Amino acid sequence: MISRADLGTLWLLGHPVSHSLSPLIQNSALRALGADLVYLAADVRPEDFQAVVDALPRLGAIGANVTVPHKQQAFRLCRQLSPRARAMRAVNTLHFRSDGLYGDNTDGVGWWSALRQSKPEFHFPRALVIGAGGAARSIVHTLAQQGMREFVLLNRSRSNAQALQAEVLQDYPGIDFCLEPLESFRGCLRADTLVVQTTSVGLRGVGSPVELPDRWPKGAFLSELIYGQKTPLLQAVEALGGEGQDGLGMLCGQAAFSLALWLEREPGVIPLDLMVQTARTHFAGKA
Ligand code: ATR
Repeated sequence: MISRADLGTLWLLGHPVSHSLSPLIQNSALRALGADLVYLAADVRPEDFQAVVDALPRLGAIGANVTVPHKQQAFRLCRQLSPRARAMRAVNTLHFRSDGLYGDNTDGVGWWSALRQSKPEFHFPRALVIGAGGAARSIVHTLAQQGMREFVLLNRSRSNAQALQAEVLQDYPGIDFCLEPLESFRGCLRADTLVVQTTSVGLRGVGSPVELPDRWPKGAFLSELIYGQKTPLLQAVEALGGEGQDGLGMLCGQAAFSLALWLEREPGVIPLDLMVQTARTHFAGKA
């Protein structure tokens, strides 16, 4: 129970939010750091979002995470944006500053740092990205900013894939960025390929957006953005002797980078391992 009257507040704004793990992992980090802050979640309807964002700094709030469906609205409301939020055209982190609302997007950098932690010798020359929504966009931008130049985007609807392709080719001219239907996955998968699964297929432990080949190629790696339980795709990759990771690292990574921004500290001082462990313990208790 919160019994102190001198705590600053951090928020998660989404619709819905009741199943979010963010309060659990953020408060575990705040406790470990001894910060005089508490992290709360609020279910905010899209039509109320702007009024809530206007009111929070008047209540003394320091910042907020923004999740579905508010990331684009948050982007439009910000007076200042980080370069990565501008590139992704979406904001997941708000910082209430004296000179106005500042927006950042820590999804991509959080995912990247979690990936680097499990694959320190990262050497993938190409990526296969499954999906073309907001999550795929942050992955593609992050990889392109890290210098990756060869992408295959596999998506159900070609028009959504084309929209992302046009955006990426405009932002990173000269990049090799081709589109394929989901059914082409087996033919596109080669050695040393990073596969990133960004769709919601497999979320409830059922279904896979793509079919696997009989053998998992050497050096290929699956980054599955879904967390909480191993998706059928991640299970199938591991059954073939392949390597992969779930999306818990991304969830905690983006949370850690948001916290670093609010606390004005280096991301390295945020206890990311503790956040991941807290989330894993939560899911282990539910299994
Ligand atoms: P997010 O912002 O989390 O990425 P999104 O913008 O709704 O979510 O994007 C969802 C992605 O999952 C899209 O690529 C979508 O494919 P379409 O562009 O064809 O809609 C993909 N997706 C969702 N349900 C799917 C399904 N049942 N089979 C295949 N792809 C699916």
